[in-house]
Amino acid sequence: MIDPGRDCPTCPRLVAFREAWRAREPGWHNAPVPSFGAGDARLLIVGLAPGLRGANCTGRPFTGDYAGDLLYETLIEFGFARGTYAASRDDGLELTGAMLTNAVRCVPPENKPTGAEIVACRSFLAETIARLPELRAIVVLGRIAHDSTVRALGRTPSRVVFGHGAEHDIGRVRLFSSYHCSRYNTNTGVLTPTMFKAVFARVRSFLGAAN
Ligand code: URA
Repeated sequence: MIDPGRDCPTCPRLVAFREAWRAREPGWHNAPVPSFGAGDARLLIVGLAPGLRGANCTGRPFTGDYAGDLLYETLIEFGFARGTYAASRDDGLELTGAMLTNAVRCVPPENKPTGAEIVACRSFLAETIARLPELRAIVVLGRIAHDSTVRALGRTPSRVVFGHGAEHDIGRVRLFSSYHCSRYNTNTGVLTPTMFKAVFARVRSFLGAAN
């Protein structure tokens, strides 16, 4: 299956967190957040997990999350999205030749999935990758997304080392690694918009102008 069902029972801690937030905020999505984008994507971007008041509320990856501001701006700038990002799943924004997903589909407490939760959700990531026949590039945001994607591709992270700007060819895809565009990383200067956009400039030149 590409996307977990609304009531996916796999991770007890995430189920309990989801139930608590369903009771507290019945108008929010409060369910696994499906991937965003079409099946002809040549680029897949893999984040960590939905933010509580962002993607977990709106139901679209990175939408309403602080990290989404830089990510969607960058996707539009490099031609991987068109329209206007307005932090809502009804903003009409379209991804063009790209898909956005998360290594863990449910919001984790404190934004920190456990190792077991990352492993449990990997089958959805592997299936997502398998069902994209045109896929040529993957951008991973942060080490957890990197390691889980490398494993989903059947390799070991000790041989495919994470680093901002690192690139690795794995089978039919090139993996581009980036620091996560989180509020923490951008506020502390670990990741600047220039550093982030440089990764997408490389992806754009790798994929060529057309989507
Ligand atoms: N929102 C997401 O959907 N994923 C992240 O990794 C961060 C925020």
